[in-house]
Amino acid sequence: MQISVHSGELKESASKAIIVTLFEGANTSTGAVAEIDAALDGAISRLVEEGDVKGKRNETTLLHTLGRLASPRVLVVGLGKSDAFNPQVLRIAVAIAARQLRRSGAETVSTSADPTLGLEPDVCAQAIVEGAIIGLYRFTVHKKAQEDERVVQELTLVETDSSRAEAVRLGAERGRVSAEAMNWARDMANEPANVMTPSELAERARQVAEEWNLGYQVIEREEMEEMGMGAFLGVAQGSRQPPKLIVLRYQGAGPEANTLGLVGKGITFDSGGISIKPSQGMQEMKADMSGGADVIAAVRALAQLKAKVNVTAIVPATENMPGGSAQRPGDVVRAMNGKTIEVVNTDAEGRLILADALCYARKLGLSPVVDVATLTGAMSVILGKVAFGAMTNDAALFDRVRLAAVAAGEKVWELPLFEEYKEKLDSEVADMKNVGGREAGSITAALFLREFIEDTPWAHLDIAGVDQIDEVKGMFIKGASGTGVRTLINLGLSLAEEPVS
Ligand code: BES
Ligand code: ZN
Ligand code: ZN
Repeated sequence: MQISVHSGELKESASKAIIVTLFEGANTSTGAVAEIDAALDGAISRLVEEGDVKGKRNETTLLHTLGRLASPRVLVVGLGKSDAFNPQVLRIAVAIAARQLRRSGAETVSTSADPTLGLEPDVCAQAIVEGAIIGLYRFTVHKKAQEDERVVQELTLVETDSSRAEAVRLGAERGRVSAEAMNWARDMANEPANVMTPSELAERARQVAEEWNLGYQVIEREEMEEMGMGAFLGVAQGSRQPPKLIVLRYQGAGPEANTLGLVGKGITFDSGGISIKPSQGMQEMKADMSGGADVIAAVRALAQLKAKVNVTAIVPATENMPGGSAQRPGDVVRAMNGKTIEVVNTDAEGRLILADALCYARKLGLSPVVDVATLTGAMSVILGKVAFGAMTNDAALFDRVRLAAVAAGEKVWELPLFEEYKEKLDSEVADMKNVGGREAGSITAALFLREFIEDTPWAHLDIAGVDQIDEVKGMFIKGASGTGVRTLINLGLSLAEEPVS
């Protein structure tokens, strides 16, 4: 979808549809809705008076303009109560409106970053563009092309006030880049595991690197052996697919500036290994590389936005399979930093591959480091589908992550890394076990990771609960959500504006 910003009046737009918003209980006398209402001889205000249109959150009302406007349709979308309004409410409303207009067959849509919403012009424009691009996402690569398939080809933001136009343009561009990065990550995660192998993941990262002029390197099995990545290799040994350690670099700041490390779990299929998972729902484990896709997508977006920040993504990519050469429960492996691990459950493989990837991040001198992983099923018990969990050794870094998530309309909640939990990882035969039992499973997983990042400022984002969507809801459709990508982009932008001291 093309995104453009035009100066002029919304009511003069010749798009196939115009979107205007309305707060619950508000009248139609101000803002974009007033302009369109007047052009429609009061059609919207009559509907409000009659009680047909209430402005409730995500309520949509489609009006045909019967020649009164250049555009044939107006869609009024409710935003709910104005005191509960924020950019995320707007993103969702626009997503729902955009999907409805696509069903109507409107190929071009116009709206405006309405000042009466009370948002900064760039924030408003960004939310609108993100809502539309995220909301209109579909994954159709493996389906026969529909002859009558409807597509919204263009979204135009019309701006009357020339003093706001530049900010609207900037926000729209940031929104386009961020949302497209998120949809790219969703595409990656939605691919079946027979397509999205570790090699294919590396190839897609290479394409991103080529297009945006990024540094790109893949470390192969032999070199991993030389570096002593026994934890990662232990997971990979059960698969016919060669493992890949993918490294992607963007240098937007000087060489003296620190480099943000983004480490993403890249399990292209998690069968559980010898500790095999139940078959019910196992197909969802094709998306166990979402964290890896998220970090590549974030680096891509930061490069596109020319953010003044250095960032390196590291993605350990492998399958977790129960082949004849697979590792067994009880095996002991040695990670790159020399620590030994008793693998009591081969299904806790994410932390094993991340252990070596975090060691490698340290070796590269990256700081701070944020890892993103579909790590523990327990996350959906703790926070449901509403928020992802964060665990950290650095409160200031978590603060930045939290603000980055808020700005993205994503929700993150911190879980504690109390020392008392750590004894659960004690092993009789090695330095630690890879599983600490059922209790506080997400926390012991993070404490396991902390053994490998040591004193580097680090935050761990466990997206297992929020990564998959079951039904059309808000901005999303069924499938991969891409949650985390825009939080990471905002984190990178925040480090560009205000580097860590
Ligand atoms: N990839 C899974 C976690 C997961 C579960 C992600 C559901 C998304 C949805 C991870 O590798 C895993 O299997 N974790 C185990 C750990 C257990 C064996 C300690 C889990 O959470 O059950
Ligand atoms: Zn697993
Ligand atoms: Zn997994």
